[in-house]
Amino acid sequence: MRLAVNIDHIATIREARRAREPQPVAAALMAEMAGAQGITIHLRSDRRHINERDLELLREVVTTKLNVEMAVTAEMLQIALRTRPDQVTLVPERPNEVTTQGGLDVGAQSQAIKDIARQLAEAAIRVSLFIDADPEQVRRARQAGAHAIEINTGPYADAQGDARLAALTRIADVGRLAARGDVEVLAGHGLSYLNVGPIVAIPEIVELNIGHAIVARAALVGFDRAVRDMVALLAPAGLR
Ligand code: PXP
Repeated sequence: MRLAVNIDHIATIREARRAREPQPVAAALMAEMAGAQGITIHLRSDRRHINERDLELLREVVTTKLNVEMAVTAEMLQIALRTRPDQVTLVPERPNEVTTQGGLDVGAQSQAIKDIARQLAEAAIRVSLFIDADPEQVRRARQAGAHAIEINTGPYADAQGDARLAALTRIADVGRLAARGDVEVLAGHGLSYLNVGPIVAIPEIVELNIGHAIVARAALVGFDRAVRDMVALLAPAGLR
């Protein structure tokens, strides 16, 4: 299973002081050296952490896979077509949210998503849709032409006991459904060193996007060690 490290919060630390450091591009290189197989950023409409200069620099240096999360807007489409990340993940975005709240309602925006997905695909940019663990959203994502889905693991991460098991089962079921339809299955949101194990055990999921937990650990033990610790947890059980 591949780890894509979300480095938004490296930029959050920089923006807390409107300073020049830390630079997300430095974190991206360190993450790749520590075994990450992808770098993810969310270019928010309000540019509260990652900005376009970060995206341009990252496009220059990232050699694994650069995945840019963005809202379904004409502005973001133009930025993606200009900067050409390897993958775009379309996400819902609400102005004052602390972090992404839930997956896309693909049906409600199907024409806009289809149009954007087609233009990205024509530019050889992979398209992933961030969706809740809901079979209807998988069907809609496939109809919209997505190459991949990213299943929202937030509800699993937030739940306890039986509710957590139920959320995990929904993720596994949706993963099977999507993989049968030839859609690549990714997952992320709220994953940590403590809760990632049962997600790693789902065979259809090939990549995880993890940000907050890694940057939080990095603040205390260093970025290299924080990434390596997570890479180790994603290794096949026999190699751990
Ligand atoms: N996937 C998506 C679509 C996200 O919006 C985020 C948060 O930016 C993540 C994954 C990573 O979540 P976390 O920071 O909780 O690991």
